[in-house]
Amino acid sequence: MLELHNIYLEKNKVKVLSDINLTVNEGETVVLTGPSGCGKSTLIRVALGLIKPQKGEVWFEGVNLQALSEKMLRKKRRKMGIVFQEFQLLEHFTLLENVLLALWEGEHDFSKAEKAIKSVGLWEKRFRYPRQLSGGEKQRVGIARALALDPDIIFWDEPTAALDPMYVHEILRIMDSLAQKKTMLVVTHEMPFALKVADRLVLMESGKIVEEAPPQKIFVQPSSYLGVMYRERLLDTKDALSKLAQ
Ligand SMILES: Nc1ncnc2c1ncn2[C@@H]1O[C@H](COP(=O)(O)OP(=O)(O)OP(=O)(O)O)[C@@H](O)[C@H]1O
Ligand SMILES: [Mg+2]
Repeated sequence: MLELHNIYLEKNKVKVLSDINLTVNEGETVVLTGPSGCGKSTLIRVALGLIKPQKGEVWFEGVNLQALSEKMLRKKRRKMGIVFQEFQLLEHFTLLENVLLALWEGEHDFSKAEKAIKSVGLWEKRFRYPRQLSGGEKQRVGIARALALDPDIIFWDEPTAALDPMYVHEILRIMDSLAQKKTMLVVTHEMPFALKVADRLVLMESGKIVEEAPPQKIFVQPSSYLGVMYRERLLDTKDALSKLAQ
């Protein structure tokens, strides 16, 4: 589905990504995490073909993105959904218009917008403007916008990081149910989500992937210093979850 091969990227002579090899197979949910500034958002932008790395290749559905013209790349990108931390909604447009605008370039299909908005439970609020929505609702619009095109893969860049804790759960629940049917690459620090949903957990540090394994394996056998740190966090999460279940 998605393959990143030996990606190297620098900005202003500073190395941002190096030796990045990552595959996301169809149907998988891969969780990517690591300290602030380690290059997670940049990696997503590279995977979307929004930034060209100096070295390496990005393959999506059997096609090398670097070999595509700008027009073909845009077309391919319509099969990739993205949900951002800061929602990135257009303030002067209604909820419905925000979702319709995502469909604009191709067939302007109202029923696709309707289906996507209904799937996040916001159809009744479709004529509201972003300022009339809660943080959780705004992010649900962000999700509807990504879903409207029925993408083959969804990228999530810290989708709950800007939310009040009370809204985090509702977004994680939607992500959880989408993970059952969609291919997803999720940047998040939410360890309960990683533990429950991730097929693989990828740990990044200073522009490199330092560890990649199913979360259950990182419990038993972390193979990097960062892996040991995350093992502690995963174990704490597991404890907390089992206490809640009692
Ligand atoms: N436009 C830019 N010019 C130069 N350096 C940049 C630029 N954008 C990002 N960087 C640098 O690239 C590195 C990776 O940034 P990136 O935003 O991908 O990290 P991140 O892991 O997503 O961080 P966070 O968890 O804070 O979102 C950082 O060191 C950052 O300072
Ligand atoms: Mg980021």
